[in-house]
Amino acid sequence: MPENTAWWKESTVYQIYPSSFKDSNGDGIGDIPGIISELDYLQKLGVDLVWLSPILQSPQVDMGYDVSDYYAIHPPYGTMEDVDNLIKGLNARGMKYIMDLVVNHTSDQSRSSKENPYRDWYIWKPPRYDEHGNRQPPNNWIAAFEGSAWEYDEATDEYYLHLFAVEQPDLNWENPKVRAAVHDIMRYWLDKGVSGFRMDVINMISKDQSFPDAPITNPNSPWQHGAQFYCNGPRIHEFLQDLGKILKEYDAFSVGEMPNVYDPAEIVKCVGFDRGELAMAFQFEIMDLDQPAPTKFLPKKWEMSALKEVVSRWQTFMYENDGWNALYLENHDQGRSICRFASPKPEFRAYSAKMLATFLGLQSGTPFVYQGQELGLANVPDSWGIDKFRDLETLNYWKDEILQHHAQDTEYQEMTMKEIRLKSRDNGRLPMQWNKEKFAGFTTGTEPWIGVNEDYEEWNAAAQVGNPDSVFEYWAQILRLRKKYKNLFAYGSYKLIDEPNQDLFAYLRAYGDQTALILTNFTEKEVGWTVPSEVVPILKGGTLLVENRNHDRSISSDGTITVQPLEAFAVLLNKSSV
Ligand code: NOJ
Repeated sequence: MPENTAWWKESTVYQIYPSSFKDSNGDGIGDIPGIISELDYLQKLGVDLVWLSPILQSPQVDMGYDVSDYYAIHPPYGTMEDVDNLIKGLNARGMKYIMDLVVNHTSDQSRSSKENPYRDWYIWKPPRYDEHGNRQPPNNWIAAFEGSAWEYDEATDEYYLHLFAVEQPDLNWENPKVRAAVHDIMRYWLDKGVSGFRMDVINMISKDQSFPDAPITNPNSPWQHGAQFYCNGPRIHEFLQDLGKILKEYDAFSVGEMPNVYDPAEIVKCVGFDRGELAMAFQFEIMDLDQPAPTKFLPKKWEMSALKEVVSRWQTFMYENDGWNALYLENHDQGRSICRFASPKPEFRAYSAKMLATFLGLQSGTPFVYQGQELGLANVPDSWGIDKFRDLETLNYWKDEILQHHAQDTEYQEMTMKEIRLKSRDNGRLPMQWNKEKFAGFTTGTEPWIGVNEDYEEWNAAAQVGNPDSVFEYWAQILRLRKKYKNLFAYGSYKLIDEPNQDLFAYLRAYGDQTALILTNFTEKEVGWTVPSEVVPILKGGTLLVENRNHDRSISSDGTITVQPLEAFAVLLNKSSV
């Protein structure tokens, strides 16, 4: 039972993608003063923690996830003084700053000669030679952004490992100097006033030191997914416990990004309350339901039965094993949730966004809201071709996979473009839509760094804040409910009901005398629901907490209720008051 309370279990996090949030100086790139100018907006939403994707000095090969100086701010974002003011501004409004800590890899510095003192901070291996005497990488691992995970260095006749872009060499965590440097970075920023970290792919820091070939799962590619050799590797707990000690000293927040590991029993070893490691982790099972890894951008529909299985397994497991869930449906690496999991059609869009807010926001765990999710923002327009995209993962895929292997196949290209418009990381990176002014009020300059979505005149913050029917106010209401019924929503149990139903996702949360029913319709159709017997007293005697459409829920004589397309509601029964 999660009897251990913690402030971060009672919090909600809002994620800001700095380059796309708000531009204060007209250069087309969002910046820290822009964020500061919108702190009241965040306060109105009711979030507690604000996580900024990386703002440190970087050549921006991967939008700041390639850090070149951990003690300097990327100039287009602002200055150290701006950061101080941001922290002050947040704290003054009862919010805290969460920093993105990218320490599995850095930007590609310090790898020019074998004498370089930093050479052993990275992972170098000699080449292998095949039977024809041709030089080959040390193993067959694939990089997340296409091709071999190893890059050859002519000058030293060795390869270095990069699990992401060529310009993002992996750090060698076996080297104690690397670990000490990471600890110093953490202390520096905690001393400055950050309240914790989101840790980028932190489950990749300990690699199997024999660097074996990965089993062949994709016979069409020379490069194979080696995740089992570098995710949650041999020394992960030792390394995380070192970080945990620092976090504990400062009572800091932490969430670790942990892709490729689908077993909550593995993850809870990193996030169990008494493990002394991290507070919670981003697991990827929901995100991967429609993403056939390792091949990106192939059509795959998620299934309701799988969604129920995944959500329920994590909800129950963490509750029973004193772990904690990080709840998310969106971030800067994902397509917009209304397009992936609900319906972006005009007549359903607001209902969809509110339905997903209900579904996610009332689960057990710490909810993460990604900028624009609170407005129901959507993916890029259908008219977008590849030339409009900026993300290197998407562009590399297009170059290496499509142009190399399907250059003549326009049908395949069109299919891929459709998937890119659904799942590319750029979908969540379009400028935030503030108002119906030019460029959605994001910039006063002549051109934002990436195109503005064409729906901004209707879908923007100015139209929603203060409007009781808006997605924004609905999210604010969900977050208020989490505070008002803290025991129930932070510490209550979870139970899936009506598991076989392929249209509706229904679950109960319970704590003491309180039981809440959360019902969500993921489809565009009206659904007749045979009310399970344990739900009848809740519907009959409970009080409505939230609803996304005003609708009669009385049970008809045949024991059913009608659930409207994309409908969502939550009802609370307090047994002691019945
Ligand atoms: C995960 C981050 O969220 C993503 O944006 C980045 O490209 C990779 N890690 C590499 O840092």
